Amino acid sequence: MDEQVKSKLLEAAAQALENAYSPYSGISVAAAVMDDRGRIFSGVNVENASLGLTICAERNAIARAVADGAKSIEAVLIISSIGAIPPCGACRQVIAEFAMPETPILLAFEGKIIEERTLGELLPDAFKLNRDKGRS
Ligand code: THU
Repeated sequence: MDEQVKSKLLEAAAQALENAYSPYSGISVAAAVMDDRGRIFSGVNVENASLGLTICAERNAIARAVADGAKSIEAVLIISSIGAIPPCGACRQVIAEFAMPETPILLAFEGKIIEERTLGELLPDAFKLNRDKGRS
């Protein structure tokens, strides 16, 4: 993956991490995604007193991208306050809606990319109704 894109994703996610809203778990998570037009969108976890309503950082970033017209997700970076954490199962499925098996998922901690995975490694045989990239 292009090093410049990696650093842009890292910068966007690291900046957003400061805005994570996680008073209940104390775990801050931020994600940055790049869309089909090379635009970068960030998202953070947003917790709620009704704990099950918590929104993960990855889904937040993807929702922002889609709301702004993204047709596909070309790369995802996740950063957290506790280490290089992989996306939860629900977020893997939501990433799969807009990404391909080879889409990189980068895991970062303390300003550095620690691991580089792909969606296909994290979610093999994903359930998809639209197998094309993005939406029809
Ligand atoms: N969290 C995310 O934002 N993304 C994930 O993929 C895993 C979990 C958040 C949800 C909650 O606010 C906190 O991390 C602890 O579960």
